[in-house]
Amino acid sequence: MADRHKTAPDGLWRWLVGGLVAGGIVLGLLVGAYEVGYDRGRASVEREGRAAETTPAPAPREERADLAATGERLFTRYACAGCHSLDGSPGPGPTVKGLAGSRVELDDGTTVTADDAYLAESLTDPDAKVVKGFQKGVMTAAVAGFDLGSKPADVEALVAFMKAQR
Ligand code: HEC
Repeated sequence: MADRHKTAPDGLWRWLVGGLVAGGIVLGLLVGAYEVGYDRGRASVEREGRAAETTPAPAPREERADLAATGERLFTRYACAGCHSLDGSPGPGPTVKGLAGSRVELDDGTTVTADDAYLAESLTDPDAKVVKGFQKGVMTAAVAGFDLGSKPADVEALVAFMKAQR
């Protein structure tokens, strides 16, 4: 009776100790495994960091690459080519060849440099400055329907195209 009385707590005690020891081992293994994994993870993060440093940044988008090409299409679509040659030959309007950056004589006797602003204004308000020897109102009548004044992107492309006609 006394023996049986003693064995029960003893068994329980052994269970507890055994459980603690086993738990300790399992915990130790887990901590060890975690540490190894942590080190590996950190190593791979460091590798990735180095890789990111050496990978060149993507090239900036070439937004203006096709601007002149777009302008060329618009030059045809808006029938500019019907009045403006690209090869220097005469027509209803002055040739565009060599125009950008050149000095332009106007019908009021003044001279202006054909910079971006002048070229853009020539499209949105053709009569603002009239080239000497040419008729005022001719281009205005021809392009009025295209409403270039409200199409800054088209004007920008057309100017880029005209600037490429050296
Ligand atoms: C019906 C004929 C006609 C059409 C179409 C026409 N133009 Fe003109 N353009 C002229 C004439 C004429 C002049 C010169 C009188 C003046 O300055 O407004 C001129 C002037 C210009 C000038 C200034 C030239 C210089 O030597 O300083 C530019 C730039 C120009 N046009 C671009 C264009 C573009 C781009 C288009 C198409 C969107 C276009 N034109 C459509 C007749 C035309």
